[in-house]
Amino acid sequence: MFTFFRRCFALVICLVAISPLLKLHAAVKDQHSFANPEQISTTHLSLDVQVDFDKSQLRGFVEHQLKRYDAKATTLVLDTRALVIEKVQQQNAKGVWSDAVFTLGKAAGILGQSLSIKLAAHSEKVRIYYHTTADSSGLQWLSAAQTTEKQQPFLFSQSQAIHARSWIPLQDTPAVRVSYQARVRTPKQLLAVMSADNSKNLERDGDYHFDMPQPIPAYLIALAVGDLHFKAMSTQTGVYAEKTWLDKAANEFADTQHMMDVASGLYGQYPWGRYDLLILPASFPFGGMENPRLSFITPTVITGDKSLVSLIAHELAHSWSGNLITNSNWEDLWLNEGFTNFFENRIMSEVYGNARADMEYSLSVAELERSLPDLTKADQALKLQLQGRDPDEAFSPVAYVKGQLFLSYLEQQFGRQHFDAFVSLYFKTFAFQSMDTQSFLTFLQHNLLAKYPGKVTEKDVQQWVFQDGLPTNYPKRPSDAFSKVEQQLALFLAGNANWQTKDWTVHQWLHLLDKLPRNSTKQQLMNLDQQFAFSQSQNAEIFVAWAKLAIPLQYQALQQPLEQFLLKVGRSKFVVPLYRALVASPVWSEFGKNVYRQARPGYHPLTQAQVDKLYL
Ligand code: BES
Ligand code: ZN
Repeated sequence: MFTFFRRCFALVICLVAISPLLKLHAAVKDQHSFANPEQISTTHLSLDVQVDFDKSQLRGFVEHQLKRYDAKATTLVLDTRALVIEKVQQQNAKGVWSDAVFTLGKAAGILGQSLSIKLAAHSEKVRIYYHTTADSSGLQWLSAAQTTEKQQPFLFSQSQAIHARSWIPLQDTPAVRVSYQARVRTPKQLLAVMSADNSKNLERDGDYHFDMPQPIPAYLIALAVGDLHFKAMSTQTGVYAEKTWLDKAANEFADTQHMMDVASGLYGQYPWGRYDLLILPASFPFGGMENPRLSFITPTVITGDKSLVSLIAHELAHSWSGNLITNSNWEDLWLNEGFTNFFENRIMSEVYGNARADMEYSLSVAELERSLPDLTKADQALKLQLQGRDPDEAFSPVAYVKGQLFLSYLEQQFGRQHFDAFVSLYFKTFAFQSMDTQSFLTFLQHNLLAKYPGKVTEKDVQQWVFQDGLPTNYPKRPSDAFSKVEQQLALFLAGNANWQTKDWTVHQWLHLLDKLPRNSTKQQLMNLDQQFAFSQSQNAEIFVAWAKLAIPLQYQALQQPLEQFLLKVGRSKFVVPLYRALVASPVWSEFGKNVYRQARPGYHPLTQAQVDKLYL
């Protein structure tokens, strides 16, 4: 292993020496992209699209500014998926536009189709005229009825991991970064926002302009259109939302500026100017998405008590880990998500105290431990193997939590001061670049392991990164608040319940639900529900944790609120496990199917695809 490590290091040095390009595009080919950035890559995109809600279609063109690395290359290869390409043009050195010959490759499932464009000797710009289709998996078109306000339609994009290609033809690999500008035309009464500078659009007139001057990977290009309003939370932060959510969101997330200040203090100045939040309709398939300058956020974390705001700390942390330094390949996702979970928890402990951060840490560890037995050995390693696989399906708590625990372990071994200095140096050194696991390990070796010898061996590192399972030497963070929960639960299970739950936090309730034996009886659940009304909980995390326990027992009082929940919320982390539990229940399977039939049109295409599989 040691020699392997050294050989890889020698290879990287060699490649860096012979070609500055290979440093940028990492030595590893992204198997989820057809693009040829090592020959010709895009440096800047200009998007000009019309948002047609009648046809559920984006239509227009995208212009690519190109940079050539291989003088002999004559073909630009882009990624597309479910797009209709109408026409391609190129601009010669004199600035004259002419048609370019292009071919679409054979459809290859989730990867879509390559778009190969023949280039004249000196052309540095191409324009692709295109429109999206019903199968454009990166867009969700919502009818007015599917929004919170129910007055106007809504559109949003979700490009991670490989869905940007379904609404813009481009080099859809995180190894390529582009700056972009955009003009988006919408019905007059709607507002468009993007992962860019949104400040030019003071007037709601259906013609919006955006500018993203910093280079970002394709999966961070994002667009939303709806009856959106803005409320400032501080000079640098604010929320965009439909009216119902605007004040509620601004209150819930009022600590965002504080989080930013803390984050900047930890690992270097916030690099993107403003940081705003966009609250999406409840069908948004994720908790959050770190689109730069404008994180996309599910409304299911707006609870009125700030109990789930670690999501904001998480998406904000991605402004460094993910958006500033980007995994160069989806196999290296842990570099994005593990760092972000680690960073998120640091922010949470600074803003809300160690006790809360400790509880969130333990809940994450419990989630990881529950998930491991269901994963193959290969999927338990930080470095994933995704050959021939859909990246969306391979993502699990491993990248997030095992990644976080690896970094916490390093922090514990080297001490917070040294580890923080290392992380700051990492962000500074590789800002606006992509990073793969091997290059990270080389940097780690030089700047931490070798600098403070005798604390962590390369073998330890290899185990964390490439082996299955969870090394037992990760830092434990016992929580007094959780011990209290465990004591109360032990009494309850022994039949001596005398619940003392005054001042319990959401995290304590979640811990109770985590610890409740899976073979609890219906009588025990009923008893708990009568006292604590879990079936009525308005906190989605509590409700779902409870429902997962109660569905297998066909607990009647849950049925109606469960139906309501599934009809309203489309966040896949919640709905997929709920349907999975329903399918597994002989009595409620049919009920689940009926609910899904009604709910399906309101779910995002990604969520639909996941639930469809359960009902095959
Ligand atoms: N970037 C992810 C969402 C994502 C990951 C989308 C992979 C597509 C592919 C985002 O930052 C995220 O991790 N969201 C989590 C929340 C988080 C607190 C764990 C989510 O959506 O639940
Ligand atoms: Zn994340």
